[in-house]
Amino acid sequence: MTNHRQALVDVAGLTMRFGGLTALDKLDMQIMEGEILGLLGPNGSGKTTFFNVLTGLYKASSGTITYNGRNVIGQRPQEIYRSGVARTFQRSRLSLPLTVFDNIVIGDYQHMQHGLFFNLFRRRAFRAEYDAYVGKIEALLQIFSPPLVNRLFEPVETFSMIDRRRIEVCRALLSRPRLLLLDEPSAGMTHDETDALMEDILQVRGKLDNLSIVLIEHEMNVIERITDRCIVFNYGKKIAEGSYAEITADANVQTAYLGEAA
Ligand SMILES: Nc1ncnc2c1ncn2[C@@H]1O[C@H](COP(=O)(O)OP(=O)(O)O)[C@@H](O)[C@H]1O
Ligand SMILES: [Mg+2]
Repeated sequence: MTNHRQALVDVAGLTMRFGGLTALDKLDMQIMEGEILGLLGPNGSGKTTFFNVLTGLYKASSGTITYNGRNVIGQRPQEIYRSGVARTFQRSRLSLPLTVFDNIVIGDYQHMQHGLFFNLFRRRAFRAEYDAYVGKIEALLQIFSPPLVNRLFEPVETFSMIDRRRIEVCRALLSRPRLLLLDEPSAGMTHDETDALMEDILQVRGKLDNLSIVLIEHEMNVIERITDRCIVFNYGKKIAEGSYAEITADANVQTAYLGEAA
């Protein structure tokens, strides 16, 4: 089923150096339209760096990332975000005393060029814009996590871990991205919570037409259950690519993980 899909993102010769350290090393890979791609690899293998380069936080040392027919390298984070690439972060970036609504709106405004403080503190003056945001967020929560709709104006600190993650995913989805990058969304959650979150993600993929997802995840049962395809990094290089069954049977992958444990 993935065979006929087109590449949404085409990465060629991508290299990212930090001083003497090569975090991404001549990486070639593709992200296909509509797929859920699992991104695996030992700690320090370059997974988060790949997201940081793809979203414009870091500028690659060399190579290209073609998305929408344009090279992403050199574009600003706002431009890339507006062209449909959204992410969550490995460590939670919610502001706990603020409400669900504020956290989700701030996520969007962070990427805008102006207006954050003015709009947040002068909501009345921007009633129409505010109402539009409420509508947009309610619609999104209705798709992603209906029980959260009635709690839109409660502070995030009153929510469970899994609901906080749901809020972060919703924040990323607010821009209706074509590509969603999830950096270890199950971190800090129980197995049951992780399963529930993955169900939500599968569900949302089914409802949002043609959304591609890249999932960095260590839990192999999660990878097996929800990915269409996997890529494994080690020391910034792609060492394996294929189905879950293919990559787990791969000798290079097994060595990479044993090497980490040793
Ligand atoms: N901003 C940075 N400055 C220096 N080194 C970095 C920076 N970001 C990542 N690295 C290094 O790049 C390598 C890859 O890191 P990272 O992409 O975070 O790995 P992963 O997400 O696979 O665990 C690591 O050796 C890490 O220390
Ligand atoms: Mg990481």
